Amino acid sequence: MFVTASAPTSKTALPKDLFGAIEMLKKDLNAVVLAHYYQDPDIQDVADYIGDSLGLSQQAASTDADVIVFAGVHFMAETAKILNPNKLVLLPDLAAGCSLADSCLPDDFAKFKAAHPDHVVISYINCTAEIKAMSDIICTSSNAVKLVNQLPAEQKIIFAPDRNLGRYVMAQTGREMVLWQGSCIVHETFSEKKLLQLKMEYPDAEIVAHPECEAGVLRHADFIGSTTALLTYVQISVCDRFIIATEPGIIHQMQKQLPQKHFIPAPPEANCACNECPYMRLNTLEKLYWAMQSKTPAVTIPSEIQQRALAPIQRMLEMSAR
Ligand code: 13P
Ligand code: SF4
Repeated sequence: MFVTASAPTSKTALPKDLFGAIEMLKKDLNAVVLAHYYQDPDIQDVADYIGDSLGLSQQAASTDADVIVFAGVHFMAETAKILNPNKLVLLPDLAAGCSLADSCLPDDFAKFKAAHPDHVVISYINCTAEIKAMSDIICTSSNAVKLVNQLPAEQKIIFAPDRNLGRYVMAQTGREMVLWQGSCIVHETFSEKKLLQLKMEYPDAEIVAHPECEAGVLRHADFIGSTTALLTYVQISVCDRFIIATEPGIIHQMQKQLPQKHFIPAPPEANCACNECPYMRLNTLEKLYWAMQSKTPAVTIPSEIQQRALAPIQRMLEMSAR
């Protein structure tokens, strides 16, 4: 992760109407606020666009705003910067990382690649710019199966860094892939046993799960998909109660769009709030305001890495549109 620009040292008093002040700053800066579903409800409510990683990348690729305020984690803002090297990309808290991105360091990944020389490298977007620069194709949870299916049957594949998504893609495509052994600390926290207890309590509920969950949770899911796909599924399903096996931030949109339906967060193993992503939750509405007001912290990437990381992202956007 490249961290150069720092947060403002002295913060001015917050305006009374933070939402109104952010709207004014959007106009002054010609800025767009892009937010992931795992962000706090307040941030989702002020965003111009809320989406999954693919939707956010597509928005970043097509925006004509001068400033992109990214309410998500570092690899997402970094992707926006790779697509827009000449724009200012702000991330309210630069420490908003990701356990998957942290699990895959460039030196180790170079050795892993060298051990499998005739393999194409498909990397989940949840990785750093350096790993993207070492990859052939980037994918997200919403297009991984589609992209793998487009490769010739004899093509050998490395899939990094999420082993759970990798296993899911292998099951869906029938393809063998060499998996990097990374995982998401949030999606690995769900308890299969507690999920089944909850299902006994609510037998009418459908279980929807993100493919970053472990196989033990996925095997009980009525539907598996990216955050956007989960949101679409609960809209079209005739069921009116759902157990949600992903970060519970998305329940804000589900509840907002479907106030008559019921959404129950899948329980974590321990008695904690560890189904909330600690990185995503570092961003707050206040930090978002300060970032816009001070135009910092900004995401920066060395141009050589940016240029190499751009091609596999563009390949993803092209293959995704097929
Ligand atoms: P998607 O929103 O692309 O499904 O990804 C979920 C996630 O874990 C993002 O970090
Ligand atoms: Fe990374 Fe998991 Fe948080 Fe997504 S939910 S940002 S994959 S740690």
